[in-house]
Amino acid sequence: MSSFLESPKFPVDIVNQAAEKEKKGGGHPKHWEMIFWWTRKPLASARAVLAAAALPPDIDVHTFVAQVLKAKENLKGQVENVPHRENPTPPPEWRERFAKMKVLDPFTGFGSIPLEAMRLGFGEVVAVELLPTAYVFLKAVLEYPKWAAERGLADQLVRDVEKWGKWVTEQLASDPDIRELYDPDVAVYIGTWEVKCPHCGKYTPLIGNWWLARVSKGSSEETEEEEEGAKKKIFSRLAWMDWENGAIKIVNLNKELQTSKIEAKVNSKQGYVEVNGTKRTVRKPNIDAKHKKATCLHCGNQIRYISLKTGKHTIEKPKGKETEWYVKHALKQWNQLLEDYLNGKIDLEKLLQSPARPTLLARVKIKEGDLEYEPATNQDTEKLWKALEKIRKIWGDPDIPTEPLPPYGSRGMGGDLKTIVWGLDKWYKHFNPRQLLTLVKLVKLVREAGKKIEEEKLREGWSKENAYNYAEKITTYLALAVLKQANYNSILTSTEPTQKLIRETLAFRGIAITWNWMEVVPISNFLGSFTKSLKSVQKGIDTLIDILNNVGTSIKIDLDDATFLTKLREEVFDLIVTDPPYRDDVPYVELSDFYYVWLKRALSDTNNGKLAPRFLSEAFFKPIGATFREIRTQWEEFALREVGFNVGRLKYFKGALASKDEARSYFIDLLSRSFLSIRRALKDDGMLVTYYTHTDPEAWEELISAGWKAGFRVSAAFPASTESVQRVTARGKAALDTSIVVVWRPGVKGEALWDEVYRDALVAAEARALELLRAGRSGVDLFVGTLAATLSVVTSREKIVGIDDIGGFVKERAYPAAARGLARAVSRFVGGGEAGEEVRDAGALFYMLAKVLLPWNRRTRGRVMDRSTVHIIGFGTGLDNEDLADIKIIKNMKKNFRLLEPRGEERGELVELLHDRGLDPSRPVLRSAVDALHLLEYYAATLDIKGFREQYEKLRSVNPVLVDEALRLARVFSGRLVPSVDPEKRLCERVLWYVSGTGTLEGWLGGA
Ligand SMILES: C[S@@+](CC[C@H](N)C(=O)[O-])C[C@H]1O[C@@H](n2cnc3c(N)ncnc32)[C@H](O)[C@@H]1O
Repeated sequence: MSSFLESPKFPVDIVNQAAEKEKKGGGHPKHWEMIFWWTRKPLASARAVLAAAALPPDIDVHTFVAQVLKAKENLKGQVENVPHRENPTPPPEWRERFAKMKVLDPFTGFGSIPLEAMRLGFGEVVAVELLPTAYVFLKAVLEYPKWAAERGLADQLVRDVEKWGKWVTEQLASDPDIRELYDPDVAVYIGTWEVKCPHCGKYTPLIGNWWLARVSKGSSEETEEEEEGAKKKIFSRLAWMDWENGAIKIVNLNKELQTSKIEAKVNSKQGYVEVNGTKRTVRKPNIDAKHKKATCLHCGNQIRYISLKTGKHTIEKPKGKETEWYVKHALKQWNQLLEDYLNGKIDLEKLLQSPARPTLLARVKIKEGDLEYEPATNQDTEKLWKALEKIRKIWGDPDIPTEPLPPYGSRGMGGDLKTIVWGLDKWYKHFNPRQLLTLVKLVKLVREAGKKIEEEKLREGWSKENAYNYAEKITTYLALAVLKQANYNSILTSTEPTQKLIRETLAFRGIAITWNWMEVVPISNFLGSFTKSLKSVQKGIDTLIDILNNVGTSIKIDLDDATFLTKLREEVFDLIVTDPPYRDDVPYVELSDFYYVWLKRALSDTNNGKLAPRFLSEAFFKPIGATFREIRTQWEEFALREVGFNVGRLKYFKGALASKDEARSYFIDLLSRSFLSIRRALKDDGMLVTYYTHTDPEAWEELISAGWKAGFRVSAAFPASTESVQRVTARGKAALDTSIVVVWRPGVKGEALWDEVYRDALVAAEARALELLRAGRSGVDLFVGTLAATLSVVTSREKIVGIDDIGGFVKERAYPAAARGLARAVSRFVGGGEAGEEVRDAGALFYMLAKVLLPWNRRTRGRVMDRSTVHIIGFGTGLDNEDLADIKIIKNMKKNFRLLEPRGEERGELVELLHDRGLDPSRPVLRSAVDALHLLEYYAATLDIKGFREQYEKLRSVNPVLVDEALRLARVFSGRLVPSVDPEKRLCERVLWYVSGTGTLEGWLGGA
């Protein structure tokens, strides 16, 4: 039986708009602020997908949008509210349907899918996750709020988190060490690394960002156009650091000008501020790790290479391997000496002679609601060493996370855990001594709070079990606040001058060394302090209680491996909706150890100098007979089971010779096994829905073939807006803004020859594309929907005779069939297409699809697309962005790609286009039908009908095939799928008119 999700009526556009609302300016679900997890799916789309999968195809769309999705549209059909903030109110018969169904998510992450399944009232929901960290978070998100609500303890839970959070804060505030180490009036310290200059011998700080504040209303970052110059804007705060007489100096313009509104031109890239015609310079970073460069602030000399043999510094890189960038070498030495110091091998004096060491640059105070900046003093930095002495005294304490980082950290992981190459080989080294000491103290206090909560409840007469369970929940929430504060308090945080001052450790998804880190005073009221983190946790619980208050669903969270799903035993589900890891995108297992090492401590006990089980011990200990073993790190225990493509991992665990191909095969094997276990867990008439995000066509092939081999056929697909572009692109990765949702049904049968399948696939693609076009679908949505029809035909057979490599097959044959089917449907839809008439040339096909699928952008006067869009359309034409740039169909413009098309009808604009495309109208050489079309457009715009026809005949006599193909394109572009603002529409009309000679324009447009 089909579902609403598989119907062309499913309102993809509205669902995507609702998801977009969630990603923008404050639209995030509040409980996401409790703690960061990677690649969380928007609640709106999770809800829409789940509900639509459970409903029949013929339901009323309006009721779905208004009562399930809770989207409110304006007259233009745009979603105006943030729908996830409201609980769904489906009609009773829909609710009844949901209540009868069982849902599984085998890759749960932070739980968007199960949370919405619960909110919709599905009968049973099982959430599976491999990693203990996510498992504990899932308890806090899905299980505890419901547990409390069912027992009438919801308010008490929130109050007790507040009460015990306050207790922890007060204990911390009165701790003599904390009082000694932090200045009472400081909220944040800004620090960095300093190195001993090999030229002048003085310690120079390495400053990656001199800015302290650059806060303006509206857009926070300069746009690409503004990079060159700067527009005048009003800034509410402008402050930066400078270097004068061998020390940091603060420039605070608000203070200087005595105003909170500064009208200024600011260009951060070029480093200047212009106020009232006077230009002030803001220094550029004196460290450029990417190019292995640093400059001493004292003597101005370059700091480059050190010979590991002689210890001599040189500016030019000497031949031979035994050299290293001085800065990296110095940081590694610090990290080794630090360990020697803590192990009692050297004294503090010796440690502080290290060629690199942490230092403080500035401190930030809150005065009368405003921020005040001061240079840090020697006494400030001294406090770091005092903290270090205190750590040495407790060295060996099990609460100090001495667990190792994966040694393969920097290899084959897309650079996602880079700190080990700087010598940060153990987790405790990721914090400055004062941050570390504070975290150790917080962990101990949270543990103690857990004991006190249990005792209090026992005293109040609660049963042993209830008191323990309750204490587990409060302690878990307190632990989340500790983790959040750790995220804002490591030496991998960075300065964020345009909005909130601090960029947290995991802001870039990965963990990398930074130059300028932030240290928030834990008991201050500043973003990232323990106090503030607690508030985020409380707000998160409040939200979750609102969501889960009256939910009847039974929820089970399994710490299990999706490739086996052992804990499910024989259980089967009506619906499996899931979001598997995207190949090589995020190494969850290694990155989330950043949390794991602290979480384990906060929720465990200590006994004889070791950690011992207390709460949620299944996440931190492995039972061995009657005893147990502590799980040191997630990477050591789970790395090989995480579904991911990671060469470094495989090399480390399976031998140094493991190749990229083997790592890929290993990943494909894990993905295939997951699909097989998913198939076992799905009822025969059930449905599987997967989200997947990746720009690489290979990744798509892997997914499709894994599903197909496990006995699933594709039944529908559409693009869904998911990731935050900013987050993904922050470190220069390609934009992955679009996830594609694939709907799968069990059941493949029979075998067939490719020719038969191709014929059917083409017919299905064309029919589905026409259906979608008639339903008003457009854009990438239309393309993916068509692709699904092709894949549906292809994957419905168990075997296609003669095809062994399913992956290559999907890319080389299925995608092109979809593109061709779509092209046919488009010709037919615009009314100009004759039977069998279609665009065949790959470049022309891409050009045509881009023109009809993408909107005309008024600002850029043309079509601009991100990398993922180029890939998605490119799948079908067999061309990637490089091929397309080579044949000058698109132009690479740093972040985006521009389609090379006419931007106006004037001669000058067409000359410019021909120039950009490398075409000479007086000596035309045709590479594709697009070349022929653009030349014809130029002739039509610049010559009279006689002149045009001469050129046309000339061109045709050389290459009739491409010229005919160009006319096919012209017929499509003059039709209704291309908007009238697009100048190419009119140019094409004129070409067709001139070509027809005696015929009329209407005749051509009518499909003569
Ligand atoms: C893309 S994320 C899911 C995000 C989730 N839908 C959300 O909204 O938060 C994929 C998750 O799969 C988990 N994972 C990886 N390998 C796994 C395995 N073998 N079994 C179960 N979970 C696994 C990862 O830890 C990660 O949390």
